[in-house]
Amino acid sequence: MPNPDRDALIARLPKAELHLHIEGSLEPEMLFALAGRNGVAIPFASVEEVRAAYSFSNLQDFLDIYYQGMAVLQTEQDFFDLTWAYLERAAADHVRHVEIFFDPQGHTERGVAFETALSGIERALKAGEAGMGITYRLIMCFLRHLSEAEAEATLDQALPHLDRIHGVGLDSSEVGHPPSKFQRVFARARELGLHVTAHAGEEGPPEYVREALDLLQVERIDHGNRALEDPALVHHLARDGVTLTVCPLSNLRLCVIDRLEDSPVRRMLDLGLKATINSDDPAYFGGYINANFRAVADALDLSVAEIVQLAENSFAGSFLTDADKARHIADLRAAAAL
Ligand code: HPA
Ligand code: ZN
Repeated sequence: MPNPDRDALIARLPKAELHLHIEGSLEPEMLFALAGRNGVAIPFASVEEVRAAYSFSNLQDFLDIYYQGMAVLQTEQDFFDLTWAYLERAAADHVRHVEIFFDPQGHTERGVAFETALSGIERALKAGEAGMGITYRLIMCFLRHLSEAEAEATLDQALPHLDRIHGVGLDSSEVGHPPSKFQRVFARARELGLHVTAHAGEEGPPEYVREALDLLQVERIDHGNRALEDPALVHHLARDGVTLTVCPLSNLRLCVIDRLEDSPVRRMLDLGLKATINSDDPAYFGGYINANFRAVADALDLSVAEIVQLAENSFAGSFLTDADKARHIADLRAAAAL
């Protein structure tokens, strides 16, 4: 049930967003503007027509449109504008720290240089830190429907820029592309000092979550819904305090769940798991981080303590230093007590 006091708490709490694909923040208005600016043809006549096409029955349905949308991103300025628009929305939702994903292979395979995407995204992140005080980490994802050799080539392209990239992730079509396929490239990323995370258990089975932990040695699991099917795995996640980046509106729109009441967030909290709330691809799934918090809080009737716990988990599970985590958590406790 909607609850104005709870909405006010959600609005004012400082929070971190740990699961956000920057290309998934491309709003239909910007899709049109960039298509016009770059002379790229798109198969839609209006913003309304684009929104109407955002009706998905599964992850692959969405990915087909998501990769199509990326075609309008051509120049460094396009990547800046995209990232800046996201940061303005994040600031309005009281996000103080972001760890965003980008998909270099979605761009290089279209002839857009790795450096073009990286520089535009990074310039906006630096401007957001200077102007809005939002700190950041940048995570490049490997597209799991492509080969491990292609992921290795992408890591090679990142080598001159390792002072600008903080981690690697694994996204795209999950089923049929288990974490084990990327064991060697993740080992190399870890040896290079990069943080590691992976999407697992969104559509794929609990075994994929286990592989991500055991074979890729990830620090976080992105989504993780289906881990709840395996009690031994739940025990492992709880014992090790592994952060799960849950995306409620994404789960609903990709039919991972039938209703928000089925969101795994409450069960995860009850089981002692470190769940966090994130928007994934907000332009496609109908809401940014606070909309995700409100939707899941209403559906699950989350308490004040549970909402504060979710926000606290977002800082605790970030790649910030312990001192920065403690500072943010002190701020959020002060904001919760107002
Ligand atoms: N899952 C997998 N790959 C993705 C997603 C997602 O939710 N969003 C963008 N790439
Ligand atoms: Zn995702």
